Amino acid sequence: MAKNRILSGMQPTSQLHLGNYLGALKNWVNFQEKDDFERLFCVVDLHAITVDYNPAQLAQATREIAAAYMASGIDPKKSSLFVQSHVPEHSQLMWLLATMAQMGKLERMTQFKDKAGKNKERAGLGLFAYPVLMAADILVYNATHVPVGEDQKQHLELTRDLAATFNTRYDVELFVQPEPVIAGPAPRVMSLRDGTQKMSKSADSDMTRINLTDDADTIAKKIKKAKTDADPLPETLDGLEGRAEALNLVTLYAALSDMSKEDVLKQHAGQQFGAFKPALTEVAVAHLAPITSRMNELLSDPAQIDNALRDGAEHARSIASKTLAEAQKTMGFFV
Ligand code: TYM
Repeated sequence: MAKNRILSGMQPTSQLHLGNYLGALKNWVNFQEKDDFERLFCVVDLHAITVDYNPAQLAQATREIAAAYMASGIDPKKSSLFVQSHVPEHSQLMWLLATMAQMGKLERMTQFKDKAGKNKERAGLGLFAYPVLMAADILVYNATHVPVGEDQKQHLELTRDLAATFNTRYDVELFVQPEPVIAGPAPRVMSLRDGTQKMSKSADSDMTRINLTDDADTIAKKIKKAKTDADPLPETLDGLEGRAEALNLVTLYAALSDMSKEDVLKQHAGQQFGAFKPALTEVAVAHLAPITSRMNELLSDPAQIDNALRDGAEHARSIASKTLAEAQKTMGFFV
C-alpha cells in the first residue's frame, strides 16, 4: 500500500513567529518520528509575492525560512525540503485546477477578505487565486496529510473540493483527498496586543508577535508589554473564559514547556501577570535560544541549506512531474 505523505509550507514573507512554530512547525517535527510517512516541506515563495514584498530580500528570506525549518528540527535526511518555485509543476497544475475553481468559493475565503481589505477591486489575481496554488502544492504530491494551523482549515476544504471536482469531472481517481492535521501544541496563537486577532507576520507592529529570531531582551520586552487584565490567574480553565489575552499567554506557556494548560494553571494559580510574565519569558527564551543560534550558524555558511534545498527539489520534482503528466493526460492534452 502507498505510504502516507505529508506536505506543508510557509511563506517567506518575514521571520517566522511563535504562531507558525507552535501552530505548525513543531508538529512537522513530530511527524519525523513516524516511519510510515514520507515528508515534504516547502518554502512557498510564489505565495509570498501575492502581497507587497521586497524583491531584494526574497531570496534571502526564502533561505532564512529553510534555516528556521532545519533549526527547529527538520532533518533533510528524513524530510525533503525545497523551494516552491523550484518545482514548476506547482504552477502548471494550478492553472489546470484554476479552470475548475469557482469564483464564488474563492470570494468566501476569509484570508482573501482579510488581506484584500476594503479595496477588493484592486486586489491582485494572485491573491485571489492563492488557495488554488495552495491546492496545487498539495495535490501535485497527492499528500494524504497536511499539518497546518487552524487558520488554514478553509483552504484545506477548498483543496479537498478541487480534488473531488477534478475526479468527478474526468471520472478518475487521480487526486487523493488530503486530511488537514491541526494538531500543533497551539493551533491558534493570538496577537500579544489583542487576544481577538491571530499572531501574524503581516500585522504592522512587531510587538504583536514573538519571532523565532528575537533575542532574550526583545522577548522579555514584548512579553512585558503584552496586553493582559488585572485579575490573577485562576485555578481552572473555566476561569479564563472571556479573558482572551490571559488564555493566550497560558497557552503559550503550556506549549513552550510541553505541559497541559490545566497543569500550568495548577502551578501558577493566584499569580498576577507581574509574576507570570517573567516565568513565561524564561520558558520562551529557553525554548527559542537554541533554535535562534542554530539558525544563525546555518545562515553563516548557507551551503548546507542550499544543498538540502537542491536535493529536496529534485526529489519533489520526481513526484510532481508524474502527477502533472497524469492530470494533463486525463484532461486530454497532447502530451
Ligand atoms: P503562513 O506562512 O501564513 O503560515 C505558515 C503556517 O503557520 C500557521 N500559522 C499559525 N498557527 C497558529 N497560530 C497562528 N497565529 C498562526 N499563524 C500562522 C499556518 O496555519 C500555517 O500552517 N497558506 C499557508 C502556506 C501554504 C501551505 C501550502 C500550507 C502554501 N501552500 C500547502 C500547507 C500546504 C500559510 O498560511 O502560510
